[in-house]
Amino acid sequence: MSEKSETVTKPGDLVQLVGLSHKSFIFTLQEGAEFHTHRGVIKHDDLIGKQWGTQIFSHNGSPFFILQPSFTDLLRGIKRATQIMYPKEIGYILLYMGIGPGQHVLEAGTGSGSFTSALAHAVGSTGRVYSYDIKESSQEIAKKSIAKLGLLDHIDFKVRDIQSGFDERNLDAAFLDVSNPYDYLKQVRDALKPGGYFGCIVPTTNQVIKTLVALRREDFAFIEVCDISVKFYKTEPTRFRPTDRMIAHTGYLIFGRKVQVDRDLVDLKLLKEVGMLGLDDEDSSDGDVFEGQE
Ligand SMILES: C[S@@+](CC[C@H](N)C(=O)[O-])C[C@H]1O[C@@H](n2cnc3c(N)ncnc32)[C@H](O)[C@@H]1O
Repeated sequence: MSEKSETVTKPGDLVQLVGLSHKSFIFTLQEGAEFHTHRGVIKHDDLIGKQWGTQIFSHNGSPFFILQPSFTDLLRGIKRATQIMYPKEIGYILLYMGIGPGQHVLEAGTGSGSFTSALAHAVGSTGRVYSYDIKESSQEIAKKSIAKLGLLDHIDFKVRDIQSGFDERNLDAAFLDVSNPYDYLKQVRDALKPGGYFGCIVPTTNQVIKTLVALRREDFAFIEVCDISVKFYKTEPTRFRPTDRMIAHTGYLIFGRKVQVDRDLVDLKLLKEVGMLGLDDEDSSDGDVFEGQE
C-alpha cells in the first residue's frame, strides 16, 4: 500500500478507479501493464505520476476518479470463501482490544481473510498475526487476497482444528470467528498473556449465552457484549434522508480479559463488578462461589 501522505501515484501503488454507477476497481500499478474493463482499456503508464483524486479516462472516453483505496475499500474487494467480518465491527474490535503496532495476536478461523488483513495491517511489520483455520482451502483463498495487499509477511497461517489448542503463549489478544467459541476458551486462555484480550463474534443470542457461561468458567473478566449498527444517509442536500436499505444484523461482539484469581483472597464485590459472578452467585453466596470449578 502507498504512503498516505504521497500526492501522486507511482509503480507498486494500490489504486482504486471509481467509474460511473460507483463501479470500482482496485489493482497495483505496474509499468507497461494494461487494465481492461467493459468501459474501455487504461494503460497503467497513463496513471503513473497522476495526482490522487483526479479524473482519468479510458481509451473510449469513460471517466474514472483515481483514488488511494481506504482499508474499507480493500476489505470490500476480498474474495469470499466464507461469511466475512465487516468494517463496522472490525474498526471497533481493533480499538476495543487495543490492537496496534508490534502486538502478537491470534485469530480463528481465517475464513476469507477479511479480519486477518485488518489485524495484519494493525500490528504492522513489527507485530505478528497467528491465523488458524481447519480448512486449508479457505486459507489458500485468503492468502491470495492478503498477498494483493502486501500483508502476507505479517502472518503465520496454521491449518488446524483449534480444539487441539494454539502453539503460542503470552499473546496480547485473541479473536474467534467460529460458530462455537465457547468450546475453545480454555485453549484461548492458555495462549493469552495475563490481562490479554479475548473477543469473538456470533450471530445468535443462544451462542452469546453459552459463551458468557464459558467465559465465567474460564475466569475471564471485564466481560462486555454489544452489537453495532451503522445507518447510512442519502447525501442529496435537497432531500437528505436515510438510505432505503440497511444491514439490520451481522453479529454480537463479546469481549473479556484473562485475569488471575487467587482463590484464597477472592473479593466477591470486585469479581461481580468485572462480570465474573452472576446474580445467582450473589444470592446463594456463602463464600464458596467457585465450587465445582476447580
Ligand atoms: C465465518 S468464517 C471466518 C471469517 C473471517 N473472520 C473473515 O473475516 O473472513 C469461519 C471460519 O472458521 C473456520 N473454523 C470453524 N471451526 C473451526 C475450528 N474448530 N478450528 C479452526 N477453524 C475453524 C471455518 O473453516 C471458517 O473458515
